[in-house]
Amino acid sequence: MQYGYFDDNAREYVITRPDTPYPWINYLGSEDFYGLFSNTSGGYCFYRDARLLRLTRYRYNNVPTDSGGRYFYIRDSVRDGGDIWTPSWMPMKSALDRYECRHGMGYSRISSARNGLAFFQTSFVPLKDNCEIHKIVLTNESGADKDVDVFSFIEFCLWNANDDMTNFQRNFSIGEVEVEAGGAHIYHKTEYRERRNHYALWAVNVPVAGFDTDRQTFLGLYNGFDHPETVFAGKANNSVASGWAPIGSHHIKAHLKPGESKALVFVLGYCENQDDKKWEKPGVINKAPANALLDKYGSPEFADKALAVLKEYWDALLGRFSVEAEDKRMARMAGVWNQYQCMVTFNMSRSASYFESGIGRGMGFRDSNQDLLGFVHLVPERARARILDIAATQFPDGSAYHQYQPLTKRGNNEVGSGFNDDPLWLICGVAAYIKETGDFGILDEKVPFDNKEELADSLFVHLKRSFDYTVTHNGPHGLPLIGRADWNDCLNLNCFSKTPGESFQTTANFESGVAESVLIAAIFVFTGPDYVEICRRTKREEEAEYAVKAIATMTETIKAHGWDGNWFLRAYDAYGHKIGSHECEDGQIFIESNGFAVMAGIGLDDGRAKKALDSVKDKLDTKYGIVLQQPAYKDYHLELGEVSSYPPGYKENAGIFCHNNPWVTIAETKLGRGTRAFETYTKICPAYREDDSDLRRLEPYVYAQMVAGKDASRFGEAKNSWLTGTAAWTFVSISQYILGVRPVFDGLLIDPCIPASMKGFSVIRHFQNAVYRIAVDNSAGVEKGVKSLTLDGKPLNGAVLPALGDGRTHEVKVVMG
Ligand code: BGC
Ligand code: NOJ
Repeated sequence: MQYGYFDDNAREYVITRPDTPYPWINYLGSEDFYGLFSNTSGGYCFYRDARLLRLTRYRYNNVPTDSGGRYFYIRDSVRDGGDIWTPSWMPMKSALDRYECRHGMGYSRISSARNGLAFFQTSFVPLKDNCEIHKIVLTNESGADKDVDVFSFIEFCLWNANDDMTNFQRNFSIGEVEVEAGGAHIYHKTEYRERRNHYALWAVNVPVAGFDTDRQTFLGLYNGFDHPETVFAGKANNSVASGWAPIGSHHIKAHLKPGESKALVFVLGYCENQDDKKWEKPGVINKAPANALLDKYGSPEFADKALAVLKEYWDALLGRFSVEAEDKRMARMAGVWNQYQCMVTFNMSRSASYFESGIGRGMGFRDSNQDLLGFVHLVPERARARILDIAATQFPDGSAYHQYQPLTKRGNNEVGSGFNDDPLWLICGVAAYIKETGDFGILDEKVPFDNKEELADSLFVHLKRSFDYTVTHNGPHGLPLIGRADWNDCLNLNCFSKTPGESFQTTANFESGVAESVLIAAIFVFTGPDYVEICRRTKREEEAEYAVKAIATMTETIKAHGWDGNWFLRAYDAYGHKIGSHECEDGQIFIESNGFAVMAGIGLDDGRAKKALDSVKDKLDTKYGIVLQQPAYKDYHLELGEVSSYPPGYKENAGIFCHNNPWVTIAETKLGRGTRAFETYTKICPAYREDDSDLRRLEPYVYAQMVAGKDASRFGEAKNSWLTGTAAWTFVSISQYILGVRPVFDGLLIDPCIPASMKGFSVIRHFQNAVYRIAVDNSAGVEKGVKSLTLDGKPLNGAVLPALGDGRTHEVKVVMG
């Protein structure tokens, strides 16, 4: 069944009941300050780094699930029965006369009602400021006067989220707050007395009747969020936290005549002072940055204006690529939600979601490069800056730190390097950036190696080191050595892990110099030609020739040692045994090498590509998408690592790992099989499973990393929504290869590959300071092929629209046939 619907005009997903099969969340924030916000107002916020600068506390894996957020409690007057309820449903699970949550682009709204009182919450992070705004409108819908008490509630995190959840011997003694404006302004200043120069603000724009900042006083020691003693008593205690658990709660009294509305604006902000301006007077923090936020947002009108600005920002962003088609589900995903998710993955990498705690992972070298593919058309300048950050964590030999920290931008020593696919993703990301922008100048930027300025060299040299790393790190068959793992983090062919709890990836204890990856070879052949083009266009002919040869050699090596007869092999293990071969007992065929090899064009000329994709369809396809491999590993294999650690059907052990389904989609378009390509696209696309939400469980508007595979008892259930490379790759597959509007070094190539039954579609694409309105006519009912193409009424030779860069709108008519 469905738990809501898409409102396409508003670009919102409307959730119509609060008890969704899992919390369905949204992200508030665009650049530095972010909030995770669920459909029942759960979640938390942080400034730049979800681990180190977390403003509010959130307990993952809690019961009930998703408890903790920005909560508002309503208490009707005794005259009206004294009813107490929470309008966002949680935490009291109050029965509501109405409920609706709308997740939009960077904002969410919850509207509900009970006992004749309507509640309307709008939550967002304004552009360029570091705070969440929660605007609450209360309306008396009853026929009589109403008196209500409103209590706000948030719980502060003591900044470092990891420490906050573990180091209680210290933390219970360090919590500090300040309170001003009679309690309307609450400041959380733990550790400000020593090394921190930042504090958090929780403020409301109206006078309050009281406040609380001590959790135990507000809730009662043995109570949960669903039974705060203070709300039941009907009166705040004006408690001032000292140690233990600082919170922020306002008590506001509202009198409402019939039909009358009152608006309250809450600001939850991050404030920072220069070290020499930390104090107003001894022991009193400098409130200047807090006051600036309050001046700006402390009224309903200002909050509305800020929301309007945010909406304009998103209109402009999504205007850069939009789709019209008969298939509404495809159009809304490709035109809106998929791009929105790409922005979120670009911002978060894999740090903070409802499945990633924000504590564990930094920015991934491979992940962030891939995220660029779905983001670069939205804000190319930010993509550029990101590329330079990522490249600076590369080692001089071309290998790379697998992760880096967003705050310091330094590589993570605990994880180190040795994931041998990493270097190639840099070429892939940079090529995508240059194709989108034409900015070859980025190649001349001086970028450090290993974050050391003295090792800086041009970005081009970084690409060369990436390329060379693969050329020079080959195993016995001439295929690339896998190192600790390749894209599949769980193929740990040199890490023989026997000890419970140790990391499968970083326990590299078996440097075989033997284990090889066919996938890395295929990535090399896929992305290598972009490197060649980059060399040619920057007049590096000799380097281009060298690269062409290396790619040809690798292609031959794949054909000689990476082919199993009916599909591409996956790898060789540390003993030189095949992985992904019909000779294996389990793990006979894998999706990744097959998708990527065909994407790279290998076997298009000799029938292997078709055979490989037919085998994928035959052996790996299911109604919910393509599983990662088959048969699933039944037992743990020391020589294979984490892939065989998962129960069959989950994650990398034969789950539907959505990230690489679009590789097969793209590969299918190489064969011109538009119907099949589209089928692989729709199977993992959440909008097509909206009415199956009880099984799928996660948000119907975003992709999940994994859907349980056919070997799992929960076949079809999704996990790990939001932060996944699936976002970028599906956007590439639908926008560039199915709809076929693809940036290339010379312009915008138009090369659709669609189901024969799709009669046409149109796309508006902003590209290098010009707008192209592209109308595709497929009344011929073909799957691929452009018969004619006109640009502003004139026939064009070939199918590449030149980058006109004239700031004007151009009409493009495409006839397939
Ligand atoms: C997961 C992978 C993930 C890796 C990150 C593994 O447990 O299965 O999907 O990439 O952890 O460290
Ligand atoms: C998720 C990781 O973030 C990504 O880097 C990896 O490629 C996939 N898991 C597959 O293991």
